[in-house]
Amino acid sequence: MKVVRVYPKNRLLAWIEDRLPVTSFLAAHTSRYYAPKNLNIWYLFGALAGLTLVNQLVTGIFLAMHFKPSSQEAFASVEYIMRDVEWGWLIRYMHSTGASLFFVVVYLHMFRSLLYGSFKRPRELVWILGMMIYLVLMAEAFMGYVLPWGQMSFWGAKVIISLFGAIPVVGESLRHWVMGDYVPADATLNRFFSLHVVALPIILLLLVTVHILALHEVSSNNPDGIEIHDNEGPDGLPLDGIPFHPYYSVEDVLSAVVFVLVAAFLIFFVPTVGGLFLEHDNFTEANPLVTPEHIKPVWYFTPYYAMLRVIPHKLSGVIVMALAIGVLFLLPWLDRGKVRSIRYRGLGYKIALAVFTVSFVLLGAVGIGAMAQLLPQIVGEGVDINFIENWIGRVLLVGYFGFFAFTWVYTRFGFERTRPLPERLT
Ligand code: HEM
Repeated sequence: MKVVRVYPKNRLLAWIEDRLPVTSFLAAHTSRYYAPKNLNIWYLFGALAGLTLVNQLVTGIFLAMHFKPSSQEAFASVEYIMRDVEWGWLIRYMHSTGASLFFVVVYLHMFRSLLYGSFKRPRELVWILGMMIYLVLMAEAFMGYVLPWGQMSFWGAKVIISLFGAIPVVGESLRHWVMGDYVPADATLNRFFSLHVVALPIILLLLVTVHILALHEVSSNNPDGIEIHDNEGPDGLPLDGIPFHPYYSVEDVLSAVVFVLVAAFLIFFVPTVGGLFLEHDNFTEANPLVTPEHIKPVWYFTPYYAMLRVIPHKLSGVIVMALAIGVLFLLPWLDRGKVRSIRYRGLGYKIALAVFTVSFVLLGAVGIGAMAQLLPQIVGEGVDINFIENWIGRVLLVGYFGFFAFTWVYTRFGFERTRPLPERLT
């Protein structure tokens, strides 16, 4: 990407520009950043992910002003925020609903990359950085959920941290070290608070910045999956590109307005979304002596949780879960297809992606316990529901991992029959 010096008219800004080229930097990433002219609705989610990140940071700062990170006081301090702090309920619900919406947006953002092959060369690093964001985001959300010290916070933390115990030799010491005690306790809550409000947000912000810088270096992909810089005019600008600002910045603002309206509806009318965004059990204070009937994570973790559940051996479950995330990192090298966009890819990839998506969503349904509720109505009473659910889960796992294996074989050994790519954007 060429950075051309821009001199602002304002004398103060020009003075700064001479010493630190802030205006040139901003221009290079907005009004002088050329994006393909055919970007569609799938391309709005990156900006929306940025908006949700800002929402989490701002509401989080205000929550931290009233929250007490101690196992004795945490639950009561959240109740205090909800009942006594001016607008506290709104700030808390903006943060809790914001967390779920963050994942909705990020999952759609990731799915777009699978649709249009945005993870492929030369955007592998953009994808890897995105995957690192996803990992940190999961850690951030997990630790945040522990903070209100409700029943699900406590038992969720116990189950998840205990997974470290499955690692051979060092597992038990590691579990103890992470937890800081034999069960989730004050030490656990304190360290999670510090990581949740300081360390991980800083890492997230850095990763997001580098993610966007890396993207702007190679420029955006698009629904046709062809490079706009392959067709440049005499001025060196892409013929099928338009400046990000004002063309796409206006669109991003419009999508933000619609998004905020949807979020406001949820926050004001259904803040827990029937126990999906905030689980009912978490409105009861943590009690180490009473186990909740169903321990399950929030919806965005449930596909991975299902993997742990349907594999009876604890360590194997942990390995499969780690592989399920790890294999996504390798996707740019597993998919050797010459064509990026689903519009021109072979039928095999389309079917494999559909199977993968359905498997991931249904694994989520297994993890959240929806399958267990639905199955008795389908197969009747007296049948071992657990057994059937476990096998459905295992078949779905084949669908999940099958996508990667199939895509590799399909593209590596030349089975894919692609449609001809257009010369210019359509
Ligand atoms: C805080 C979370 C994230 C933020 C704020 C963010 C932000 C953005 C923005 C603003 C763009 C450009 C606009 C767009 O393409 O939508 C983008 C592109 C991209 N992001 Fe993210 N992102 C996030 C997470 C992720 C994750 C988790 C992944 C995948 C694992 C990912 C993969 C990509 C890819 C591959 C592109 C290039 C898309 C293309 O050019 O077609 N991002 N991101």
